[in-house]
Order: sequence, then C-alpha cells, then structure tokens
Amino acid sequence: MSTVLPQRFDESENDLNTHIDLPPIAIIYHTSYGSTLQYAKWISEHFTDADLYHVRDFNDKQINNYDIFLIGGSTRRGWLTTEHFIKKHAKSLESKYVFVFATGIIPWRGKKRKDAYLRIPLHVRSSIQYIKLPGKVDPDKLNLFDRLYLSMNGIGQYNQMNKKFINPIIDYVHSIRNQHTQK
Ligand SMILES: Cc1cc2nc3c(=O)[nH]c(=O)nc-3n(C[C@H](O)[C@H](O)[C@H](O)COP(=O)(O)O)c2cc1C
Repeated sequence: MSTVLPQRFDESENDLNTHIDLPPIAIIYHTSYGSTLQYAKWISEHFTDADLYHVRDFNDKQINNYDIFLIGGSTRRGWLTTEHFIKKHAKSLESKYVFVFATGIIPWRGKKRKDAYLRIPLHVRSSIQYIKLPGKVDPDKLNLFDRLYLSMNGIGQYNQMNKKFINPIIDYVHSIRNQHTQK
C-alpha cells in the first residue's frame, strides 16, 4: 500500500493560509476648503488599503481597479461638486458598490435643500448609498463670491464636523467586505 499522501498543498505555512482578496476601495473627493478632505481622511484611517484621490487626479482607466467607491464632495448652491464625476461614470458605477457623501450645512435653510441629491440621475441614485455630512464654514477663509453668497443666505461661522458621522459609511464597507469573505 502506498504511504504517499495526496500532494495538494505545499505544506509551508504560507501556502496553507487561505488568501482572500478584499474588494478594493477608491475614496474620491473634491474639496474647496478642506472639510470634505477631512472626512475622506477619517474614512481612509479605517481602510488603510484604500486609495485616496482628488477627483481631478483620478484617471478614468482606473475605474476597473476598484469595486467600492466612496465619493465625497461638498454641496454648493444646491449641487454636488462630484456630480460631474458621478454622471460621467454612471454606466461603470452601476456595477460597483457606491457610497456618495456630501458635506454641507445641516439643516440647509435654502430652497435648494434637496437639489444636490435630486440632480443625481434617478437610475444612479436608486442603486447607491447617499449621506449628507455636516461640514464647515469659516467666513474668513472664503473667497469674496462665496462669502457674499453665504451671507445673503444668512450663513456665518459654522462647524459641525465630527468623525462619528462617517460611521454609516464604515459600516457599509464592512458589510460589503464581510459578504465577500463569506462567499
Ligand atoms: C458658495 C457656497 C455655497 C454653498 N451651498 C450650500 C448648499 O447649497 N447646501 C449646503 O448644505 N451647504 C452649502 N454650502 C456649505 C458647504 O457645503 C460646506 O461649507 C462644506 O463643508 C464645504 O466643503 P469643503 O470644505 O470640502 O469645500 C455652501 C458653501 C459655499 C461656500
């Protein structure tokens, strides 16, 4: 009788470890005054393997390198600064896990309260996660036009930034990654 064991594994420890590739994450942001970048950095502290890009630096060809897209922009005059990116990549993003976060003033008193969200095409927004995060306004740092616009809307100093607001985003990514590891 043969005593040779089936040689399916090289018995070195490394080869016996099951290696699971987690779905890769791209964090893409646009910021004018830094608050959206701050949220993006807080998120990236939780996922040290994630790649962080300013929306301008993201090369279209890189879209297929990622499964999870966390896309952050600020709300300006009722539109989202990442709207162009989202619309441009709508087709590719359909097959991705997408969480859009929008910094802004909460509650925004203007008539344009929901406009930024509603400007995302229906077929895109029905398949993505979306959250509005309280941002920051420091009138001394705003350019003249921005300062005028906000003062006309009765907005002065505002800062409600808090790391805890990213929790739904973190939970979402963990749930996607957990599903993947259980497959
Ligand atoms: C010109 C201007 C327009 C803004 N319009 C809106 C708005 O429509 N809705 C809103 O919730 N916040 C609005 N904000 C607040 C910004 O979204 C908020 O300050 C955000 O934190 C800025 O992000 P950033 O620091 O990444 O540029 C506006 C701010 C500026 C300067």
